Amino acid sequence: RRKLILDVDTGTDDAVALMLAALHPALELVGVTVVNGNVPVSVCTDNTLRVLDHIGRGDIPVFEGADRPFMRPDFPMPRGTGEQGSKYHGETLPVPPTTRQKQEKRAVEYLIETYRAATDPITLVPVGTLTNIAAALAVEPKLVGLIPEVVIMGGGHEIGNVTPAAEFNIWGDPEAAERVLNAGFEKVTLVPLDATHRALVSYDDCDRLAALGTPAGTATAEIVRFRIDTHEKWQRMPIRGTAPVHDALCIAFLVDPTILTTRRLNVVVEAAGTYTIGRTVIDVYGRSGRAPNADIAFDADPKKFVDMLAEIFARPHGA
Ligand code: BDR
Ligand code: CA
Repeated sequence: RRKLILDVDTGTDDAVALMLAALHPALELVGVTVVNGNVPVSVCTDNTLRVLDHIGRGDIPVFEGADRPFMRPDFPMPRGTGEQGSKYHGETLPVPPTTRQKQEKRAVEYLIETYRAATDPITLVPVGTLTNIAAALAVEPKLVGLIPEVVIMGGGHEIGNVTPAAEFNIWGDPEAAERVLNAGFEKVTLVPLDATHRALVSYDDCDRLAALGTPAGTATAEIVRFRIDTHEKWQRMPIRGTAPVHDALCIAFLVDPTILTTRRLNVVVEAAGTYTIGRTVIDVYGRSGRAPNADIAFDADPKKFVDMLAEIFARPHGA
């Protein structure tokens, strides 16, 4: 089984990623670290604990991390505001409350201790702002050699979702993102909006997931239906009646790499632009002379993605 640590800001699509990672028999979710983002970090942590408990995986330890960006304490966070915004971003997830508690240890300490002690490879999958990971690297630069693979949801080449130029996870802490992307990790996969907006989930897919009758199937159907309703209101998706479920696509890719089509390219992050702060500058034509530093996804297979969700969420839950 492939081991992973997820760094989340749960979050509606983070919730689906957590369920897929915790329930897929080919994966072993060894721990979850939490960062500020979609909603304040304490809410993200509570959401994470609730989602895991809901699917019978309350045994997975959850470690809270940064409550603000690495170097921009003034940045306008969190993301979700207003009734629509907070529901879309996960202020109110359709899973029951839990009495489960986060671990005492902080996220950065957990990451450093775990990777120092690891005997098997553990893939790191950050699907929120990169604050926790950059902070861990600042404390222990040797993590670059200890983390064999990083799969990041973030960025966009043709699409920005929080400004015309930028995607939220990168925009939320651009300095942290630049540090992580250019830290020198041996293997980095970046899953930007260009790919996640190709794996759109529809109302019909939600009906299929709801019909499974399992906690994960029911919760995912409800979460994704709400995401679609919101996109319908804004008329944003190229295909009506669909929504991306960004973070979960990274988990699907760990099990089936053919779900994404990637190109090995250079990416840097704009941390100082007037209109472009948080932009991932992806060198698709090799103009910069900078060496490729990531496998960047530009396409995804929606059928394989939804089939995987349906297959895994149909299985009996629990540890
Ligand atoms: C990313 O931003 C967050 O709101 C989502 O959870 C996802 O990780 C998409 O831009
Ligand atoms: Ca997220």
